[in-house]
Amino acid sequence: MARPIWPGVIEAYRRHLPVTARTPVVTLLEGNTPLIHSRALSRRVGASADVYLKYEGLNPTGSFKDRGMTVAMSKAVEAKSVAVLCASTGNTSASASAYAARAGLRSIVLIPSGAIALGKLSQALIHGARVAAVEANFDACLTLAKELAKAHPITLVNSINPHRIEGQKTCAFEICDALGRAPDFHVTPVGNAGNITAQWKGYREYYQLGAIRRLPVMLGFQAAGAAPLVTGRIVKTPKTVATAIKIGNPASWQAALRARDESRGQIAAVTDREILAAYRGLAEQDGIFVEPASAASVAGLLKLAKAGYFARQKPASGGRLAIVCILTGHGLKDPERAIKSLKVPKPIPPLLSVIAKAVGLK
Ligand code: F0G
Repeated sequence: MARPIWPGVIEAYRRHLPVTARTPVVTLLEGNTPLIHSRALSRRVGASADVYLKYEGLNPTGSFKDRGMTVAMSKAVEAKSVAVLCASTGNTSASASAYAARAGLRSIVLIPSGAIALGKLSQALIHGARVAAVEANFDACLTLAKELAKAHPITLVNSINPHRIEGQKTCAFEICDALGRAPDFHVTPVGNAGNITAQWKGYREYYQLGAIRRLPVMLGFQAAGAAPLVTGRIVKTPKTVATAIKIGNPASWQAALRARDESRGQIAAVTDREILAAYRGLAEQDGIFVEPASAASVAGLLKLAKAGYFARQKPASGGRLAIVCILTGHGLKDPERAIKSLKVPKPIPPLLSVIAKAVGLK
């Protein structure tokens, strides 16, 4: 058997995770995503800041969910479960169905009908999930999924499953391992709030072990039309182009607020316009294609930079500020969104002169 260069997050961080020698490891060799320096964003933040992009869209199913799913699925198999279930805005269902296929488990997913990106729906379907397109929003789907899991012998693999959080904390480990310390600021999109909870747990554990000497400030961003953690109120009808984070009643509400407060950070809102500007900017200036929800972190970064937030901060190490933005999902998940804001070329005849003119060559 070939020995993989990277063994997946369970083998890479085994001693930090709730697995034993008896846990069957279900993996697609997720994790080890690149931490990419952005010259364009560093410049825009100004002065002495280095902005890094943790490109989680490069996980096997195209989002950070795979980190949590490898642990959740391995534990489900260990517990002799035969089926898994989740409610999802798309990425969790894509990941759950892929890992379930690999583990030989049945997967059932509840999605808000008409409200998830096509790429994600195609993933759940191709991996053989039983997909229920429910005429309700994500929050209602999650409530229904919890009820179903109570009534049937199925393992719920939403982020209220603690194994999901355990796996997802490895993102923080990787960032610290790559930088040789914790970043000064950790910037992340927030929807159901499992990820910010997991990332903060990861940093705290590394800190307690002495692997890092300081903790980062956690900066979370929600879409303005779906920002319950910002307003302090459940949003009954969340609205945003960032369908992945169109969530009005996050499951990890309290844990997210703890991450914010313990780190002296903030959870703020960014408008759809700001999200789409960051989405375009990442593609045009950094060569990185993300889905709209992922651009919420960069939109938030730019908003704070504009308000002078980073100019007031002193780097922990006396050197430059290290800022990490999490890019949670791949842009190919939602090509319709990309096309919508762009001009699709019209067909032209195969004539050199016509082609040259069409592509701006003289
Ligand atoms: N970014 C993307 C691309 C997501 O898919 C999600 C969540 C988030 C950010 C927010 O993470 O929920 O942990 O705060 N997607 C979930 C799903 C809800 O069903 O795929 P969170």
